[in-house]
Amino acid sequence: MGSEPITLTIRPAESGKKWSDESLERARRIMARYPEKRSAVMPLLYLAMAEDGRLTNGGMEQVAELVGITPAQVLAVASFYTMYKRERTGKYLISACTSISCMLTGGDDVFEAIELESGVPHGETDEEGLISVEHVECIGACGGAPAVQVNYELIEGVTPVKARELVRWLQQERPATINTDEMQRHFGGRRSFDWAVAEEASAVGPYPAFQPFGTVGGVGEGE
Ligand code: FES
Repeated sequence: MGSEPITLTIRPAESGKKWSDESLERARRIMARYPEKRSAVMPLLYLAMAEDGRLTNGGMEQVAELVGITPAQVLAVASFYTMYKRERTGKYLISACTSISCMLTGGDDVFEAIELESGVPHGETDEEGLISVEHVECIGACGGAPAVQVNYELIEGVTPVKARELVRWLQQERPATINTDEMQRHFGGRRSFDWAVAEEASAVGPYPAFQPFGTVGGVGEGE
């Protein structure tokens, strides 16, 4: 298969640190949305990443304690999805799709342009901790291929030239938040369709921008 083996071993918590009161309150509000607390595992894992900057053993143990399942069960969920990062990523996580629709429309060239302009290969982060780069499987924007995300905010119809401009913009401007409409205007091309409504939420870090997790900011902050 060629994929790396998954280690299903929980090591002792690195710090024993509990979450902040704010995060615990946020976790309680998230769990209240579900009939069963355990159904909140996936959103709580994003909260754990926001709390520690990455998904730690301690964070998974905290999630397990909150929802009443074992740490091994939490790890079984977390290890299945690539968006749960065990290693700290840069302030900006650039994800370039290289699945079939994007590959056929130049996605490999876009990904190579991002690697070359940033100097960061797949799965790595630059020394400053500013930019991480990865190629990913389909991100659901095949109609606007090739597609790229920064902190899970989407840009469609990206060319290698625009991809390089995107990297330089992140390096030079260092926006406080990342907004899909703003990036599409500057670095995108043909979209799958006109979404018609402006995207008001922006991502504040290398996590999806979800209001309940506190990982959103306003449009254009840092512009
Ligand atoms: S193949 Fe790239 S978004 Fe679907």
